[in-house]
Amino acid sequence: MKAKILAHLQQADTPASGERLSKRLGVSRVAVWKHMRQLQEVGYLIETTPKGYRLVRAPDAPFPWVMGDRGPLVHYHLELPSTMDAAMTLARKGCPAFTTVVAERQTKGRGRLQRRWQSTPGGLYFTMVLRPRIALAEAPLVNLAAAVDLADTLHDLYAVDVQLKWPNDLLVEGRKLSGILSQMAAEPDRIDFINLGIGINVHNDTRGVKPSAVAVAVLTDRSVSRARILEGFWERLALRLAGDRLDGVVDQWKPRAVTLGRMVTVQTLTDKVSGRALDVAPDGALVVETETGRHVKVLYGDCFHGDSNTKATRLPASR
Ligand code: BTN
Repeated sequence: MKAKILAHLQQADTPASGERLSKRLGVSRVAVWKHMRQLQEVGYLIETTPKGYRLVRAPDAPFPWVMGDRGPLVHYHLELPSTMDAAMTLARKGCPAFTTVVAERQTKGRGRLQRRWQSTPGGLYFTMVLRPRIALAEAPLVNLAAAVDLADTLHDLYAVDVQLKWPNDLLVEGRKLSGILSQMAAEPDRIDFINLGIGINVHNDTRGVKPSAVAVAVLTDRSVSRARILEGFWERLALRLAGDRLDGVVDQWKPRAVTLGRMVTVQTLTDKVSGRALDVAPDGALVVETETGRHVKVLYGDCFHGDSNTKATRLPASR
């Protein structure tokens, strides 16, 4: 209904009266009024004149009613502790694949390795529930695929040249544009769900974020829409997963990689591996050559780049 009301307001040259809208849309005037109030509450500037309603400005947000056929899968919230928790509840209850929880801001947004993810308004914060029919061993490839698909989306929409830091950070000239956090539930022989939590700096102020971060809106002259970013990413990932095949992801990931060839320290939940990042294996693991010449494969973890000429690296302060 909101999509229909907005379409009317956008097309109208003159204010649209409640009566006209209620007749056209086949709902009561009270229902029209309630939808207008809800739209105003989430940031639409709708003037109420004696002649009717006039849309002055629409906010840029991925509301369900601007997401077309995908709308019913979008759970939009003005504020949540973290979209990860809301998505986990939905996933456990058996929600359909691609159910997506979006929050305008998060009070307890989190990153990998228990770090905090600053989630002020203007950024795009969402968790998408995926149910890929792939082997358990292929699960890490979903993270790499998401990073590639998001990088391609941002490049197509805004000509932003993104580099990828293993496993799935999006950087521009060393500054963080986006981070991905995933949670999985699986049986020994099948994946129940992978929840992909993505934070993208879009319009939000990244000054003061450590390590240094950057937002899409400052990298392009084009007008930036969070709804279009979500749609573009969704479309690419859905197409990729429709075939339940993740072949080729590593080859798509490597040309954008800033990690390979560099000295790195990879922090896992239990361990720390330092050395030169040599390659990404077909299963998505980072291959690190340690000081002793040993090749170590790391499947999950967070990677910190050191100077390419030095041997050791220091872990930076948490973000
Ligand atoms: C990282 O780079 O450490 C991953 C950051 C992931 C942040 C996103 S924002 C949406 C979702 N909800 C969260 O609490 N975290 C993820």
